Amino acid sequence: MSGLSALDLRVEHLAEPRGLNTATPRFSWALASERMGAHQTAWRIRVFEVTLGGETLLWDSGRVASPQSQHVPYAGPPLPRDAVLTWQLSVWDETGALSDARPPAPIFTGLRQEDWAGQWIARYFVLPAGREVPADTIYDNRWQARPADYVRRSFAVADRPVRALLYISALGLYEPWLNGQRVGEDVLAPGWTDYHTRVEYQVHDVTDHVVAGENVIGAILGEGWYSGRVGHNQRRAGNHYGGRPALICALHLHHADGRVEIIASDDQWQTRQGPICYSDFLMGEMYDARLALEGWSERPGRLEGWQPVECFVPDPRPPLLEAARAQPVREIARLEARFLRYSASGAALFDLGQNIAGYCALTVFAPAGARFVLRHGEILDGAGELYVANLRHAVATDIFIAAGQGEERFCPRFTFHGFRYVELTLPDGLSPEDVRLSGIAISTATPQTGTLSFGHEMLDRLVSNINWSQRDNFIAVPTDCPQRDERYGWTADAQVFWKTAGYFADCSAFLAKWMLDIADGQSPEGAFPDVAPTKPLNPYRLTPQPGAPGWGDAPIILAWEHWLRHADRELVEAYYPAFERWMAHIGAPNPDFLRRNAVYNNYGDWLSVGPASDRTLVATAYWYRIAHLMEKLANVLGRMSDAARYRQLANAIGDAFRREFLGSDGRLLGDTQTAYLLALDFGLLSGPDRDRAADRLVALITAADGHLQTGFLGVRHLCPVLSGIGRDDLAIDLVLKDSYPSWGFSIGHGATTIWERWDGWTPERGFQSANMNSFNHYAYGSVGEWLWSRLAGIDATEAAPGYRVIALSPWFEPRIGQCEARYRSTRGLVESRWQCGAEGTVSWSVLLPPGTEGQVSLPPNFRLADSAAAMPERLVSGRHEFQLVPR
Ligand code: BGC
Repeated sequence: MSGLSALDLRVEHLAEPRGLNTATPRFSWALASERMGAHQTAWRIRVFEVTLGGETLLWDSGRVASPQSQHVPYAGPPLPRDAVLTWQLSVWDETGALSDARPPAPIFTGLRQEDWAGQWIARYFVLPAGREVPADTIYDNRWQARPADYVRRSFAVADRPVRALLYISALGLYEPWLNGQRVGEDVLAPGWTDYHTRVEYQVHDVTDHVVAGENVIGAILGEGWYSGRVGHNQRRAGNHYGGRPALICALHLHHADGRVEIIASDDQWQTRQGPICYSDFLMGEMYDARLALEGWSERPGRLEGWQPVECFVPDPRPPLLEAARAQPVREIARLEARFLRYSASGAALFDLGQNIAGYCALTVFAPAGARFVLRHGEILDGAGELYVANLRHAVATDIFIAAGQGEERFCPRFTFHGFRYVELTLPDGLSPEDVRLSGIAISTATPQTGTLSFGHEMLDRLVSNINWSQRDNFIAVPTDCPQRDERYGWTADAQVFWKTAGYFADCSAFLAKWMLDIADGQSPEGAFPDVAPTKPLNPYRLTPQPGAPGWGDAPIILAWEHWLRHADRELVEAYYPAFERWMAHIGAPNPDFLRRNAVYNNYGDWLSVGPASDRTLVATAYWYRIAHLMEKLANVLGRMSDAARYRQLANAIGDAFRREFLGSDGRLLGDTQTAYLLALDFGLLSGPDRDRAADRLVALITAADGHLQTGFLGVRHLCPVLSGIGRDDLAIDLVLKDSYPSWGFSIGHGATTIWERWDGWTPERGFQSANMNSFNHYAYGSVGEWLWSRLAGIDATEAAPGYRVIALSPWFEPRIGQCEARYRSTRGLVESRWQCGAEGTVSWSVLLPPGTEGQVSLPPNFRLADSAAAMPERLVSGRHEFQLVPR
């Protein structure tokens, strides 16, 4: 039996690919072994089509002598569409031993555009003459509340199919049903894209649901990002992409004789409205159980009170239908709500103990017509009441009206809130003991890859807060916040956080999808958007302007982080032309290499405290950074002349930067922490300039009594730069601080997620302006990367990206005492654990996955306990234990 085993099998970054958008999907796997120096010497992939009779071999790569375990492209005959595949991986280790592995889930090949039989269907906008007008309700002058549409049709099949695959998507949100059962566990499908350009579809294997004889297929449709409210533009708060949700689907029934029968969305479908009186991300959802449509997805034939659907071609053009590129949104945790007290209004106040994104599940036993109102908030005010002013125009209220039929459960489908506290108004006669309430957290189901703990209360809370803010904000796209009337895919928030995010979860598929949204939002002039998805086709965009420095630059930075972590050349190649257009776009109006003309917005070091950084300086530093990254990305692609061109550009920007912003006294214009941080981390200064900037940064932090003074753009660089200049002690001070401003300050005041602002709440001033004060924004959580890369000491290397060579440079800190880090990289599990012992000694244990190497750099104040031994610079894969003593 081989000591080497393959695990975490992936196709196009996914463990469960539901549809492929490529003819040459790539296979990747991780490796595990107990043995030192274990590595893969060869691989073999066999891809099978799963058929009635068993499995038919489609491709056998044969034994390929190679250590490659990432992004191995399929090289067999064209893949069948509408098919189910499986694959078998064999790996050989250095002893010649063989081991086999199979993925846990099948691959659905999916449909191509031309295979789609379904039409877009929706309730009639304008009903045919003589038909009843649907009961749309105007709730206020800004927003039109509309009941959710139910759609259905029944169909008969002579024989039970051997396989039934449901391909389905919506403009808006959908929940599929078949024969009285909900299909799958996806939430908020199909997710958010620029619906005028493309929409993703999902595939469900519903073989077990379909019966011989009569069947009923249906779906419930919600507004979601398509026609509901998103963002903060009050002029046209809803209907961003269209005025009514619509469905498309095709149920492919594969029969034993090879026939494929298709039941598609068409004019045979019926529609009506039911118990969901309205549903909207910002408003909430209202459900009147008395209006429940009994048997709507079970009873065959045409039903009374249902109307024909309209088949139509979406405006301004039918979107491309593509398979989902990332994991779906799912329910990821359930938290029991604890009754706190009655609020002044008489409503019952509950606490989940954790700020989440999601909704409540409420179980009641109540008479018909009893009304339950759930209001959601992140925090309580000074009087202990639910604080909702920071939600701005998000009403975040769900309403349930009981049908009076025994125990009833309410859980909204098409809304979500950012909340920790729930205020529940109960009908007369009921008390909190009569209901069961829990919070359900939702998130894009990116596989969790990292656990990090220090046995240090504050730091462990910081790690948890970062991880929760990540999960709460990774909902179909990476958003700024889950609670107020915003929830956009702000690009700078994501770029500063992306390295951190990559330790906690495998975000590769999620990024592959979102990069497409960003590219879809690039203007014809080359401007990347500040938020994605956005709407390039329509003059009314989700945000007023594209392309702020640090925001529009994000895709290049994201691609670089993705490259370091996953060595995925394909993503770099796919978006490189878009990056080039962005570089040209920002270069043109700035011929003197200072980014004075930011073209659109310039948010500077957004939300910093203390003296503000000069915006042109920040913008120019970022321009230098992305020119430098373009050089590196061009090298990745082997485009040597491009690389030289970008190096020249970076040099010219660097010269202009120093000429314009660096004084003869070594100070940078504005003299702020962020100015020095960007200049130092991006490599804008060298020699004595660098030393003076480092000294000045330290002096500024010291003058602020050891506090940070950065905003979104500066914060990421604080601890890494301090470590880089040999001041780990100061970096530790910063992360352990609990006085304002610091991470510890928010934690000391009860934060369970990362706050948007350092001063979201202070004892002196109370809440910051309700105009912009989220308690769940991950940007300041970007300190997470340093907790991983420096305290735990685990990082990728540029020379051998994708965790082929792993940098190991931990910092052993007696004030913290211990660290336990486990990171499941795409190549396998990496561990770093250290524990401080008596008299300054440290024991350090490292695990490296097969086929990788560790590149060790010990803190200068430690050496191996065995004074005769030198620390090896390179570690082979396997487990290593070290005893260290202070120098
Ligand atoms: C968002 C931020 C975003 C910023 C840009 C805010 O409204 O919440 O996270 O990056 O705008 O200025």
